[in-house]
Parts: sequence; structure tokens; C-alpha cells
Amino acid sequence: MGAGHIEKLIDEFAALSEPGTGVTRLGYSALEREAHAVFARELSALGLTVWTDTAGNTVAELPGRVEGAPAIGTGSHLDSVPQAGRFDGIAGVCAAIEAARAVVSSGWRPRATWRFVAFAAEEGARFGQACNGSRAAAGIVSPPQLDALADAHGVTMTEAMRAVGLEPGRIAESRWNSEEWLAFIELHIEQGTVLEASDTVIGVVDAISGSTRLLVRLDGVASHTGGTPMHQRQDALVAAAECVLLCERVATDATHHGTRVTVGRLDVHPGSITTIPGRVAFTIDVRDFDSARQRRTAHLLDDRFRQICAERGVGIDTTIIGDTSPVILPVDLVDTIVRAARDLDLPYRLLSSGASHDSQQISRITRTGMIFVPSVGGLSHVPEETTSFADIARGTDVLVRAMAAVDAEWGALA
Ligand code: GLV
Ligand code: MN
Ligand code: MN
Repeated sequence: MGAGHIEKLIDEFAALSEPGTGVTRLGYSALEREAHAVFARELSALGLTVWTDTAGNTVAELPGRVEGAPAIGTGSHLDSVPQAGRFDGIAGVCAAIEAARAVVSSGWRPRATWRFVAFAAEEGARFGQACNGSRAAAGIVSPPQLDALADAHGVTMTEAMRAVGLEPGRIAESRWNSEEWLAFIELHIEQGTVLEASDTVIGVVDAISGSTRLLVRLDGVASHTGGTPMHQRQDALVAAAECVLLCERVATDATHHGTRVTVGRLDVHPGSITTIPGRVAFTIDVRDFDSARQRRTAHLLDDRFRQICAERGVGIDTTIIGDTSPVILPVDLVDTIVRAARDLDLPYRLLSSGASHDSQQISRITRTGMIFVPSVGGLSHVPEETTSFADIARGTDVLVRAMAAVDAEWGALA
């Protein structure tokens, strides 16, 4: 598959960024829509029918030989976290474009319908909740939920979607119909070191971690740093510091092997060197492969934060801003991807994904598989994120072969 094409596309997407370090192309921003327009341009040029749904997902369809046949899909997302790298999500979208190019230029026509997808607003970095476009495709989003989520500037998801010409009030129309689907396979960078450490080119994902996210607001008393003695303070930041350390202690205790808890954002008010912090807001991201433990841990942290704040005379308010269960991916698709890697003589291994993915949501609609390609040094969500173009091309070969295998299996049964 064309590593050269993939490199050119990745360069073009990377140029669509806010100024500054790395790539910043947030979900439901004008830059994200520009990236979707590039995706639409590429697939229209291949002769596919392209549309964008009310949630901002862009879909391109290659009709199969069998009229009205169900769909086999692939794709990923085009938005990024702030100061991101160039590959997270984008690699899978480029793989989808190259898969379409390979099929169209080969002259071979699948039996089933093939769909190529760029999902909207996958990253939870802006609104807390991740996988917003694919959640809409899974039919689990309603307009009031879009009003309830806001970014750090207070812009709700409804407002952000409207500002880029989408239709949040009609979000239900983006729901995919399970009966129209046979399978979906997403290619993504690994965002870890398992493949690199084992000198393996292809990762076949067997499970995807869940996450529960909280926004915690602490209310202390702002006052003069010189005039207020230490024993008379209700310092919101000191309370927050205890909460942050508690997260690390809980996530590393004997009952939490494999749980990951992170405070990724912490805003301090008024943020002055000479004023005791009166208000602090911070986020908690609890990730786990055990859904009961994931929710239990979030509750436990909430309870313990309240104790810390009570002891310090600091008020506390917590809101759940994101909640996604872990999923186990179906063994038959894992096998299909393994066979594709073996047929191509590419070293592969099974592994689980600690990150969230659109596939997690799409698994509510149809059988879903994931192919990982190596991340250099395991780095992701940072400008240094790197994956070799040749590895993305090899992953795309596996993707096309696996999609063709699903097509053939369906053809044999149809
Ligand atoms: C997606 O990148 C996630 O935060 O897991
Ligand atoms: Mn991603
Ligand atoms: Mn990401």
C-alpha cells in the first residue's frame, strides 16, 4: 500500500492546526471540518458517494456487486488533543483512504458495500466525553446531553456544533442501523510500547479499556498570602494537592492492578502569586478494563475527596463528564485479522488497548475489530508522537485483506 501517499496525506492534515507546538485541531472546530473536507475530497475523487451526517461524521460509500448488501466499514478520527502529534486517529483515516484507493484501482469489486469513515470529535480533551461522533452513530446521544457538556471556555457542545454548521438538534438521525452492517475494522497507532518492544509490526486488539471522567470543583477562601496565618486558611489548591496524591495512591494499591488514574487539568483561581487559591477545578480520568472497578474507583475517589475537603473547610462539587465501558472485541474478527497478518507474513501479536477508540462505540452496532501499528517510543498525545509510514502502509495491507475476508465470508453465506 502507498507509504508515499500516506505521508503526503499526513502532512496535509498536520498543516490544519492552530498555531503553536504540535497539532491542535479540536473536536467540533472549524479546523476539524477542514480536515473532513480533505477526506471527502480524496474519496469523491475516487468516485465514491460521500456525505456528512448531523453529528459531523463523514462517510464515503463504495457500492458492492450485490445491490442493497450490508456494509463493511473502516475509519477513525481527524480531531486531536491540544498540542498533539500527527498520527492519532489520522493514521486510521489515511489507511481508510488508501484502502479505498487500493480497491478502486485494482478493479476488483467487493460483494458487500464498503464504507470509509472519518468520525467527528473523538477526543475527550475538549468536552470530557470521548468518541462523540461514534456515540451518535451508536445512537446513544440525545440533544440535552450535548447541552450539558461544555469546554474550558464554557462553550457547550451544542453551540460548538452549530458554529461549524452541524445540527445537534437532529443528532438522532446520525444513528447507524445494525441491520445495514456486517463489520467495522479500525486501524490506529498503538500509543504504547508493546509492539516496538517485541519487534512486531501488527497488533490485533482483543479489548478496549473504559474510562470514567469527573470534573471536580473546590471552593475555598481566597485571601492575602501575607496577612492570613497558615492555621486560618481554606486553601483550595492544598486540598486539590491532597486529592491528586490520593489518586496515585489508590491507583497503585493492591486492589488496583491495571487501573490508571490521571489528573490532566488543574485550573487555579485567581492564579496570583500573592492570593491564596480560592477556587480550583480539576479533572480525573479513571481507566480500567474492569467496568465495575472503574466505576467503584471513581465513587471511592469522590467520597475520599469529600473527606479531604471537609477536614480543610473547602467546598466540593463533582460532575461526571464522561463515562464509557470497556469492551471485549469479538474473537472471530480477531481471528480474521490474525489470518490476514499471517498471510502477509507480518509478525503480529494480540494486545489490549488502554486508550479509547471509536470502535468501542461502533461495537454496539456491529462486530468490530482493531489493528494497531507501532508507536515509536510509545509516545502519544504529544508532538513527538511518531509511527513509520511504512508500518501504516503494512497495517493498511492487513486491513484490506481482513475486510476482503469478511466480504468473502458473507458472500459465501449470502
Ligand atoms: C483517546 O485518545 C483517549 O483519550 O483514549
Ligand atoms: Mn485516537
Ligand atoms: Mn487520542
